[in-house]
Amino acid sequence: MVNYKDLGLVNTREMFKRAVAGGYDIPAFNFNTMEQMQAIVMAAVETKSPVIMQVSKGARNYANATILRYMAEGAVAYAKELGCAHPEIVLHLDHGDSFELCKDCIDMGFSSVMIDGSHLPYEENVALAKKVVEYAHQFDVTVEAELGVLAGVEDEVSAAESHYTKPEEVIDFATRTGCDSLAISIGTSHGAHKFTPEQCTLVNGVLVPPPLAFDILHEIEKKLPGFPIVLHGSSSVPMDEVNTINQFGGKLEAAIGIPEEQLREASKSAVCKINIDSDSRLAMTAAIRKHLAEHPGDFDPRQYLKPARENMKKMYIHKIVNVLGSDGKLAQ
Ligand code: G3H
Ligand code: 13P
Ligand code: ZN
Repeated sequence: MVNYKDLGLVNTREMFKRAVAGGYDIPAFNFNTMEQMQAIVMAAVETKSPVIMQVSKGARNYANATILRYMAEGAVAYAKELGCAHPEIVLHLDHGDSFELCKDCIDMGFSSVMIDGSHLPYEENVALAKKVVEYAHQFDVTVEAELGVLAGVEDEVSAAESHYTKPEEVIDFATRTGCDSLAISIGTSHGAHKFTPEQCTLVNGVLVPPPLAFDILHEIEKKLPGFPIVLHGSSSVPMDEVNTINQFGGKLEAAIGIPEEQLREASKSAVCKINIDSDSRLAMTAAIRKHLAEHPGDFDPRQYLKPARENMKKMYIHKIVNVLGSDGKLAQ
């Protein structure tokens, strides 16, 4: 049993309180590789931002659970080495699908876990989330639960269609589960294809997707004043990265994300955690494709992973400073 406090990690409680009160969001970036981890830490240190580094079940299968945990411990030391005396780094399980997986992560040093019972019948979702909360809180680990189902398909996360969160359920759910934050469904979805072109309107040659359901978000806020709300599926799918991928041999058709203005709007509300994974994948892939196309003789991974890391770092800094507003928000 390893406690996250001994690794220099923090849970989400205090940072969420400050983010809700201050009208900004904490970035939650997924990582699977060393380069992603380095780029996240460099971006957080340069912008003096708290950060959530999250690991999915798929990431644990890909990189090995123990290695990822040690990488998060290394992230704290790396942040200090880069000059940040008091980094605020959360190691979070993304989309935990069972009590056993959440317990395993808590026991190995995670400071926060998500239990995703959103696909279950309501009472089963409540019971599962409550069980995880009861275990996690013994160790001061914070818990995110989810109500409502996101559309989209991910390796380990799938939902054929979106069911918006029902505001009339949130008080009962938060009270009975004791969860620390609530992921809601208001029109975001996972992956790089969040909307079909038919669902969008063409404005000045750009496909603009339908707005998020801000009415539902505001109703939820009224029911649970000040309660931390989480948005999954919040990548914006930048067109310049998609175009670079396609220019250098990729084939990403009709990739459409959430406009950044909408995320900026959401950050002023009780939304205090924004999940971004696909934009990191796009930034990495675009840089690698470009580098290898322009330097066909290169075969040392450092030659193409270095620009990939730089491009991800640039994207993370952009999100922190221009979209989420968490720059300069470290407690000390
Ligand atoms: O929400 C899902 C995340 O993007 C993680 O995706 O399960 O493919 O690692 P993954
Ligand atoms: P994106 O696919 O929009 O990056 O969402 C990531 C996510 O929600 C991770 O839980
Ligand atoms: Zn998600």
